[in-house]
Amino acid sequence: MINDIHTKKDSKKVLLNVNELTKGFGSGRNRLEVLKGINLEMNDGELVALMGPSGCGKSTLLNIIGGILHADGGSISLDKFSYGTESPSKVVDVRRKGVGWIFQDFHLIDRLSALDNVIFALELAGIPSKEAHFKAEEALIKVNLQDRMDFIPDQLSGGQQQRVAIARAIAGDRPLLLADEPTGNLDVKSGEEIMDLFKELCKEGVSILMVTHDPMLASKADRMLLLKDGLTAASDIRSAWGTDSGVEEE
Ligand SMILES: Nc1ncnc2c1ncn2[C@@H]1O[C@H](COP(=O)(O)OP(=O)(O)OP(=O)(O)O)[C@@H](O)[C@H]1O
Ligand SMILES: [Mg+2]
Repeated sequence: MINDIHTKKDSKKVLLNVNELTKGFGSGRNRLEVLKGINLEMNDGELVALMGPSGCGKSTLLNIIGGILHADGGSISLDKFSYGTESPSKVVDVRRKGVGWIFQDFHLIDRLSALDNVIFALELAGIPSKEAHFKAEEALIKVNLQDRMDFIPDQLSGGQQQRVAIARAIAGDRPLLLADEPTGNLDVKSGEEIMDLFKELCKEGVSILMVTHDPMLASKADRMLLLKDGLTAASDIRSAWGTDSGVEEE
Protein backbone atom coordinates (compact mmCIF):
# COMPACT_ATOMS: atom_id res chain seq x y z
CA MET A 1 0.00 0.00 0.00
CA ILE A 2 2.67 2.47 1.06
CA ASN A 3 4.79 1.48 -1.95
CA ASP A 4 1.87 2.03 -4.30
CA ILE A 5 1.66 5.62 -3.15
CA HIS A 6 5.25 6.30 -4.11
CA THR A 7 5.19 4.52 -7.44
CA LYS A 8 2.17 6.27 -8.88
CA LYS A 9 2.22 6.57 -12.62
CA ASP A 10 2.23 10.34 -12.69
CA SER A 11 5.34 12.03 -11.42
CA LYS A 12 3.48 14.27 -8.94
CA LYS A 13 4.44 13.85 -5.34
CA VAL A 14 1.83 12.79 -2.83
CA LEU A 15 1.55 15.51 -0.21
CA LEU A 16 -1.34 14.30 1.92
CA ASN A 17 -2.46 10.79 2.70
CA VAL A 18 -5.46 10.22 4.93
CA ASN A 19 -5.94 6.59 5.82
CA GLU A 20 -9.09 5.02 7.31
CA LEU A 21 -9.82 8.05 9.44
CA THR A 22 -12.69 7.71 11.93
CA LYS A 23 -14.28 10.24 14.27
CA GLY A 24 -17.42 10.29 16.38
CA PHE A 25 -18.86 12.58 19.03
CA GLY A 26 -20.72 11.83 22.26
CA SER A 27 -21.22 8.52 23.99
CA GLY A 28 -23.83 5.84 24.54
CA ARG A 29 -27.14 6.47 22.81
CA ASN A 30 -26.03 9.98 21.93
CA ARG A 31 -22.98 8.75 20.07
CA LEU A 32 -22.71 10.06 16.52
CA GLU A 33 -20.22 8.46 14.15
CA VAL A 34 -19.32 11.24 11.74
CA LEU A 35 -16.31 9.95 9.81
CA LYS A 36 -16.37 6.21 9.18
CA GLY A 37 -13.11 5.46 7.44
CA ILE A 38 -12.03 8.34 5.24
CA ASN A 39 -9.34 7.67 2.65
CA LEU A 40 -7.99 10.62 0.74
CA GLU A 41 -4.83 11.43 -1.13
CA MET A 42 -3.68 14.78 -2.51
CA ASN A 43 -0.72 15.60 -4.70
CA ASP A 44 1.47 18.67 -4.66
CA GLY A 45 -0.28 21.51 -6.44
CA GLU A 46 -3.71 19.94 -6.44
CA LEU A 47 -6.96 21.82 -5.83
CA VAL A 48 -9.62 19.53 -4.40
CA ALA A 49 -13.20 20.57 -3.67
CA LEU A 50 -14.93 18.79 -0.81
CA MET A 51 -18.70 18.79 -0.86
CA GLY A 52 -21.49 17.14 1.04
CA PRO A 53 -24.67 17.88 2.95
CA SER A 54 -24.62 20.13 6.01
CA GLY A 55 -23.51 18.21 9.08
CA CYS A 56 -21.82 15.40 7.15
CA GLY A 57 -18.42 16.11 8.69
CA LYS A 58 -16.53 18.34 6.25
CA SER A 59 -15.30 20.77 8.90
CA THR A 60 -14.56 17.88 11.23
CA LEU A 61 -12.33 16.32 8.58
CA LEU A 62 -10.53 19.62 7.95
CA ASN A 63 -10.03 20.15 11.68
CA ILE A 64 -8.38 16.74 12.04
CA ILE A 65 -6.15 17.26 8.99
CA GLY A 66 -5.30 20.72 10.38
CA GLY A 67 -4.20 19.28 13.71
CA ILE A 68 -6.80 21.00 15.86
CA LEU A 69 -8.91 17.92 16.58
CA HIS A 70 -7.83 14.32 17.08
CA ALA A 71 -9.33 11.38 15.22
CA ASP A 72 -10.56 8.22 16.95
CA GLY A 73 -8.77 5.95 14.49
CA GLY A 74 -6.72 6.00 11.31
CA SER A 75 -3.71 8.05 10.32
CA ILE A 76 -2.58 11.06 8.33
CA SER A 77 0.71 11.77 6.66
CA LEU A 78 1.27 15.32 5.49
CA ASP A 79 4.64 16.25 4.10
CA LYS A 80 7.02 15.12 6.85
CA PHE A 81 4.33 14.91 9.55
CA SER A 82 2.55 11.77 10.75
CA TYR A 83 -0.41 12.12 13.10
CA GLY A 84 -4.12 11.48 13.45
CA THR A 85 -5.17 10.23 16.84
CA GLU A 86 -2.69 12.29 18.89
CA SER A 87 -4.04 15.12 21.00
CA PRO A 88 -3.74 18.52 19.26
CA SER A 89 -1.11 19.54 21.81
CA LYS A 90 1.21 16.97 20.21
CA VAL A 91 0.87 18.27 16.67
CA VAL A 92 1.95 21.87 17.08
CA ASP A 93 4.29 21.63 14.09
CA VAL A 94 1.46 20.63 11.78
CA ARG A 95 -0.32 23.85 12.72
CA ARG A 96 2.79 26.00 12.52
CA LYS A 97 4.39 24.63 9.39
CA GLY A 98 2.06 22.13 7.71
CA VAL A 99 -1.24 23.86 7.06
CA GLY A 100 -2.63 27.33 6.49
CA TRP A 101 -6.31 28.07 7.19
CA ILE A 102 -8.85 30.11 5.29
CA PHE A 103 -12.33 30.59 6.79
CA GLN A 104 -15.66 31.82 5.50
CA ASP A 105 -15.58 34.92 7.70
CA PHE A 106 -11.90 35.77 7.17
CA HIS A 107 -10.92 35.90 10.89
CA LEU A 108 -8.80 39.03 10.49
CA ILE A 109 -7.89 41.27 13.39
CA ASP A 110 -9.98 44.45 13.02
CA ARG A 111 -7.44 46.93 14.31
CA LEU A 112 -4.44 45.67 12.39
CA SER A 113 -3.58 46.61 8.82
CA ALA A 114 -3.47 43.94 6.14
CA LEU A 115 0.30 43.84 6.49
CA ASP A 116 0.23 43.60 10.27
CA ASN A 117 -2.40 40.85 10.17
CA VAL A 118 -0.03 38.72 8.10
CA ILE A 119 3.07 39.69 10.11
CA PHE A 120 1.30 38.90 13.39
CA ALA A 121 0.40 35.37 12.24
CA LEU A 122 3.99 34.74 11.12
CA GLU A 123 5.37 35.97 14.42
CA LEU A 124 2.99 33.66 16.27
CA ALA A 125 4.44 30.82 14.22
CA GLY A 126 7.87 31.74 15.57
CA ILE A 127 9.30 33.66 12.62
CA PRO A 128 11.55 36.59 13.64
CA SER A 129 10.08 40.08 13.04
CA LYS A 130 12.30 41.16 10.17
CA GLU A 131 11.78 37.98 8.21
CA ALA A 132 8.05 38.05 9.04
CA HIS A 133 7.82 41.55 7.57
CA PHE A 134 9.52 40.50 4.36
CA LYS A 135 7.46 37.32 3.98
CA ALA A 136 4.21 39.16 4.70
CA GLU A 137 4.91 41.73 1.98
CA GLU A 138 5.82 38.99 -0.44
CA ALA A 139 2.55 37.14 0.29
CA LEU A 140 0.42 40.27 -0.07
CA ILE A 141 2.03 41.00 -3.42
CA LYS A 142 1.23 37.46 -4.48
CA VAL A 143 -2.48 37.98 -3.78
CA ASN A 144 -2.41 41.33 -5.58
CA LEU A 145 -2.82 43.60 -2.58
CA GLN A 146 0.44 45.53 -2.89
CA ASP A 147 -1.51 48.80 -2.89
CA ARG A 148 -3.70 47.89 0.11
CA MET A 149 -1.13 46.72 2.64
CA ASP A 150 -1.76 49.57 5.08
CA PHE A 151 -5.54 49.31 5.04
CA ILE A 152 -7.44 47.84 7.97
CA PRO A 153 -10.13 45.20 7.24
CA ASP A 154 -12.99 47.74 7.40
CA GLN A 155 -11.39 49.64 4.53
CA LEU A 156 -11.28 46.55 2.33
CA SER A 157 -13.99 44.76 0.35
CA GLY A 158 -14.96 41.21 1.30
CA GLY A 159 -12.92 39.77 -1.55
CA GLN A 160 -9.90 41.86 -0.53
CA GLN A 161 -10.26 40.75 3.09
CA GLN A 162 -10.32 37.15 1.99
CA ARG A 163 -7.17 37.79 -0.02
CA VAL A 164 -5.47 39.11 3.13
CA ALA A 165 -6.51 35.87 4.84
CA ILE A 166 -5.05 33.90 1.93
CA ALA A 167 -1.81 35.88 2.16
CA ARG A 168 -1.72 35.02 5.86
CA ALA A 169 -2.28 31.34 5.07
CA ILE A 170 0.42 31.08 2.40
CA ALA A 171 2.98 33.36 4.05
CA GLY A 172 4.62 30.68 6.15
CA ASP A 173 5.37 28.51 3.08
CA ARG A 174 2.86 25.95 4.26
CA PRO A 175 2.33 23.16 1.72
CA LEU A 176 -1.40 22.65 2.34
CA LEU A 177 -4.19 25.21 2.59
CA LEU A 178 -7.44 24.19 4.24
CA ALA A 179 -10.29 26.41 3.16
CA ASP A 180 -13.67 25.99 4.87
CA GLU A 181 -16.27 27.61 2.61
CA PRO A 182 -13.88 30.44 1.66
CA THR A 183 -16.32 32.05 -0.74
CA GLY A 184 -19.42 31.63 1.44
CA ASN A 185 -19.55 35.34 2.34
CA LEU A 186 -18.57 36.68 -1.06
CA ASP A 187 -20.54 37.72 -4.11
CA VAL A 188 -20.26 35.55 -7.21
CA LYS A 189 -17.56 37.64 -8.88
CA SER A 190 -15.34 37.87 -5.79
CA GLY A 191 -15.81 34.13 -5.24
CA GLU A 192 -14.61 33.43 -8.76
CA GLU A 193 -11.60 35.69 -8.25
CA ILE A 194 -10.66 33.75 -5.12
CA MET A 195 -10.97 30.54 -7.09
CA ASP A 196 -8.67 31.94 -9.82
CA LEU A 197 -6.17 32.92 -7.14
CA PHE A 198 -6.31 29.41 -5.68
CA LYS A 199 -5.51 28.00 -9.11
CA GLU A 200 -2.51 30.30 -9.47
CA LEU A 201 -1.22 29.25 -6.06
CA CYS A 202 -1.63 25.59 -7.00
CA LYS A 203 0.52 26.17 -10.09
CA GLU A 204 3.27 27.22 -7.71
CA GLY A 205 2.96 23.92 -5.87
CA VAL A 206 0.60 24.73 -2.98
CA SER A 207 -2.18 22.17 -2.45
CA ILE A 208 -5.64 23.34 -1.46
CA LEU A 209 -8.48 21.37 0.09
CA MET A 210 -11.57 23.50 -0.15
CA VAL A 211 -15.04 22.93 1.28
CA THR A 212 -17.74 24.50 -0.83
CA HIS A 213 -21.50 24.26 -1.27
CA ASP A 214 -21.24 25.92 -4.67
CA PRO A 215 -21.23 23.36 -7.48
CA MET A 216 -20.05 25.90 -10.04
CA LEU A 217 -16.93 26.71 -8.04
CA ALA A 218 -16.37 23.06 -7.22
CA SER A 219 -16.42 22.22 -10.91
CA LYS A 220 -13.38 24.48 -11.37
CA ALA A 221 -11.27 22.40 -8.99
CA ASP A 222 -8.96 19.67 -10.28
CA ARG A 223 -11.08 17.12 -8.49
CA MET A 224 -14.25 16.91 -6.46
CA LEU A 225 -14.90 14.70 -3.49
CA LEU A 226 -18.28 14.01 -1.99
CA LEU A 227 -18.48 13.28 1.73
CA LYS A 228 -21.63 11.35 2.52
CA ASP A 229 -22.61 8.89 5.23
CA GLY A 230 -19.16 9.14 6.76
CA LEU A 231 -17.23 8.21 3.62
CA THR A 232 -15.70 10.10 0.72
CA ALA A 233 -16.21 9.23 -2.91
CA ALA A 234 -14.83 10.74 -6.08
CA SER A 235 -17.55 12.80 -7.60
CA ASP A 236 -18.53 14.65 -10.69
CA ILE A 237 -20.97 17.49 -10.70
CA ARG A 238 -23.90 15.42 -11.92
CA SER A 239 -23.57 12.53 -9.52
CA ALA A 240 -23.15 15.02 -6.67
CA TRP A 241 -26.18 17.12 -7.51
CA GLY A 242 -28.19 14.92 -9.85
CA THR A 243 -28.80 15.66 -13.52
CA ASP A 244 -31.74 17.95 -12.77
CA SER A 245 -29.73 20.08 -10.38
CA GLY A 246 -30.08 23.16 -12.53
CA VAL A 247 -26.33 23.35 -13.02
CA GLU A 248 -25.77 24.54 -16.56
CA GLU A 249 -22.82 23.68 -18.71
CA GLU A 250 -20.63 26.70 -19.37
N1 LIG B 1 -17.47 19.13 19.13
C1 LIG B 1 -18.57 18.48 18.74
N2 LIG B 1 -19.35 17.83 19.63
C2 LIG B 1 -20.44 17.14 19.24
N3 LIG B 1 -20.84 17.03 17.96
C3 LIG B 1 -20.11 17.66 17.03
C4 LIG B 1 -18.94 18.41 17.36
N4 LIG B 1 -18.41 18.92 16.22
C5 LIG B 1 -19.21 18.50 15.22
N5 LIG B 1 -20.23 17.75 15.71
C6 LIG B 1 -21.28 17.09 14.91
O1 LIG B 1 -20.65 16.37 13.87
C7 LIG B 1 -21.40 16.49 12.65
C8 LIG B 1 -20.48 17.04 11.56
O2 LIG B 1 -20.21 18.42 11.82
P1 LIG B 1 -19.36 19.31 10.81
O3 LIG B 1 -19.28 20.65 11.41
O4 LIG B 1 -18.09 18.62 10.51
O5 LIG B 1 -20.28 19.30 9.53
P2 LIG B 1 -20.11 20.06 8.13
O6 LIG B 1 -20.13 19.03 7.05
O7 LIG B 1 -18.92 20.95 8.19
O8 LIG B 1 -21.46 20.92 8.05
P3 LIG B 1 -21.72 22.38 7.39
O9 LIG B 1 -21.79 22.16 5.90
O10 LIG B 1 -23.05 22.76 7.95
O11 LIG B 1 -20.61 23.28 7.80
C9 LIG B 1 -22.61 17.36 12.96
O12 LIG B 1 -23.71 16.53 13.21
C10 LIG B 1 -22.18 18.10 14.22
O13 LIG B 1 -23.29 18.40 15.02
MG1 LIG C 1 -18.66 23.04 8.16
